[in-house]
Amino acid sequence: MTRQPPPTDLGDPPENRPLPGARRPGAGADRPVAVVTGGTRGIGLGVVRHLASTHHVVVGGRQASSVAAVVDELADAEGFVADLSDCGSGGSLETALAALVARLPRVDVLVHSAGVLRPGTVADLSTADWLDSLTVNVVAVAAVTRVLLPSLRAAEGLVVLVNSGSGLRATPASGAYCASKFALRALADSLREEERAQGVRVTSVHPGRVDTDMQRELVAWEGDDYDPSRHLRVESVVRAVRLAVDASADASIDTVSVRPRR
Ligand SMILES: NC(=O)c1ccc[n+]([C@@H]2O[C@H](COP(=O)([O-])OP(=O)(O)OC[C@H]3O[C@@H](n4cnc5c(N)ncnc54)[C@H](OP(=O)(O)O)[C@@H]3O)[C@@H](O)[C@H]2O)c1
Repeated sequence: MTRQPPPTDLGDPPENRPLPGARRPGAGADRPVAVVTGGTRGIGLGVVRHLASTHHVVVGGRQASSVAAVVDELADAEGFVADLSDCGSGGSLETALAALVARLPRVDVLVHSAGVLRPGTVADLSTADWLDSLTVNVVAVAAVTRVLLPSLRAAEGLVVLVNSGSGLRATPASGAYCASKFALRALADSLREEERAQGVRVTSVHPGRVDTDMQRELVAWEGDDYDPSRHLRVESVVRAVRLAVDASADASIDTVSVRPRR
């Protein structure tokens, strides 16, 4: 399907714009549903824009304004506003997820793209850095997946976890990030085997360095000049996600490693 999203309707009066949590009236009733965390920026935003050509997209993010800006540019989308670091019992994620499942009978694709990178050596990283890394990059992923699993099973759906080369090889000055991405790979491997009989597929995507805000912040921390041409384009990672989404029914794309060519 090659349907393109229409031009942005950001010019609409505010009262006519859909709320981040609201489904657009009459939109997407017959389309497969894709939920994308971290859909406001970087890789997640690229995935949202690409899947919007074929799916009703649920745009995840932590700020209502940035979620609404993305929802507004798409023909068939709604928002899911939650802070993934608040994923404990009774937290805002739990509340937002309860509202989400109540209005989504099925989920065909769940893409976990939200993530944080706290650079630093083990000698320097604080306990807060470790907790933040593991909470957003792992614990919240499990929490979101758990709540959406019945809807994913109903659709014999797909879970895509945007991991990293750091989930395959650990490097200096990134222990908290690498530990979280190794844990995320373990989560993906366990989930894949647990859900195989239920028809849910699980894909772990491992990009190298990608030209996003996260990469800009990392390069600034490293004290280097930023050169976007040295990094993967978001589109290159989006293609890997699309490969998994479009896999033939008999196949599971288990792991994809996407590296800069040079
Ligand atoms: N960029 C790279 O070089 C690279 C390489 C390999 C893997 N990855 C992985 O790819 C994924 C996406 O990275 P990116 O480069 O696109 O990052 P990014 O540009 O920094 O965007 C991060 C996204 O995650 C969301 N997010 C962060 N903390 C959150 C929280 N507590 N609750 C809810 N949402 C939160 C952000 O929402 P806000 O807009 O609200 O901040 C934003 O949408 C991450 O899992 C990352 O580890 C990135």
